[in-house]
Amino acid sequence: MAIILVTGADGQLGNELRLVSKNYYGYDFIFTDVSSLDITDSVKTSEFINQNKPDWIVNCAAYNLVDKAEEEPEQALLINGIAVKNIAESIKGSECKFIHISSDYVYDGKSNIPLNENIAAAPVSAYGRSKLAGELYALQHQGSMVIRTSWLYSSFGKNFVKTIIRHATEKESIKVVFDQVGTPTYAADLAAAIMNIISGVIRNQIAMNSGIYNYSNEGVCSWYDFACEIVKEAGLNCNVLPVLSNEFKQTAVRPSYSVMDKSKIKENYGITIPHWRTSLINCIKLLK
Ligand SMILES: NC(=O)c1ccc[n+]([C@@H]2O[C@H](COP(=O)([O-])OP(=O)(O)OC[C@H]3O[C@@H](n4cnc5c(N)ncnc54)[C@H](OP(=O)(O)O)[C@@H]3O)[C@@H](O)[C@H]2O)c1
Repeated sequence: MAIILVTGADGQLGNELRLVSKNYYGYDFIFTDVSSLDITDSVKTSEFINQNKPDWIVNCAAYNLVDKAEEEPEQALLINGIAVKNIAESIKGSECKFIHISSDYVYDGKSNIPLNENIAAAPVSAYGRSKLAGELYALQHQGSMVIRTSWLYSSFGKNFVKTIIRHATEKESIKVVFDQVGTPTYAADLAAAIMNIISGVIRNQIAMNSGIYNYSNEGVCSWYDFACEIVKEAGLNCNVLPVLSNEFKQTAVRPSYSVMDKSKIKENYGITIPHWRTSLINCIKLLK
């Protein structure tokens, strides 16, 4: 029976993996979070992995406070970088496959065409640099896949969709930036894609090819477009006003364009990706 260890499993993606795991009989899932497995602790991480001998590890643990990372870059690097090294070193030389989740914030945002995995990473924030460090550590293990995702949301945890619904319920109007363009990702879709890959490889239907893969929903929007759609689908009465990023005081610089090209993951693993609008409707139905 394949053993699948999920770290950081109390977050958005981890919770979606818990849900989707219920469709996969015959696999032994181990869900951990910082209280049961703090991956910044190299000794405990190595002991846990040696004791449980997972065939797959999906690392969903992360430090995601993009602005705060500018004030405490060491903490961001510890969780997003060094902790990934702890996992990679614990499985060094083994057959264990490793899926590590990264971010569109490793790109500099200066492109105006969808970003593929060959475009050089050049993060413009401490958070982005810590995520890039994690990618490099993950890829030191031969059987590693790094999946870059963007604008993640879910019915679990804190995220933009829930924040907009809360503000739009309380206020007559809200301001949202329109000069940052990307694609939202419903964590339920990403969790389903991850399990498609794992189960396809286990059943020998597809080969696992190490490397970096981009994954978001299909389509393109600005945060403003995204907020308009959230307000509309949630049935709220609130004016969404477009503003420029420089009207908001944010500590970290964000990429102004981070639309990702998903051809590689679709072609390698036969994955179909829903449009962001379709997935947003699904999530809002759950939130209602
Ligand atoms: N959220 C986004 O918009 C976004 C965008 C692009 C990429 N991503 C990436 O997608 C992945 C999943 O993100 P997410 O939104 O699901 O994250 P999340 O909701 O913040 O969940 C991360 C989980 O990791 C836990 N964690 C923190 N430090 C840990 C440690 N030392 N050991 C074990 N667990 C630890 C967190 O616990 P605490 O809550 O107690 O800290 C939390 O439960 C991450 O790699 C993230 O960087 C996210």
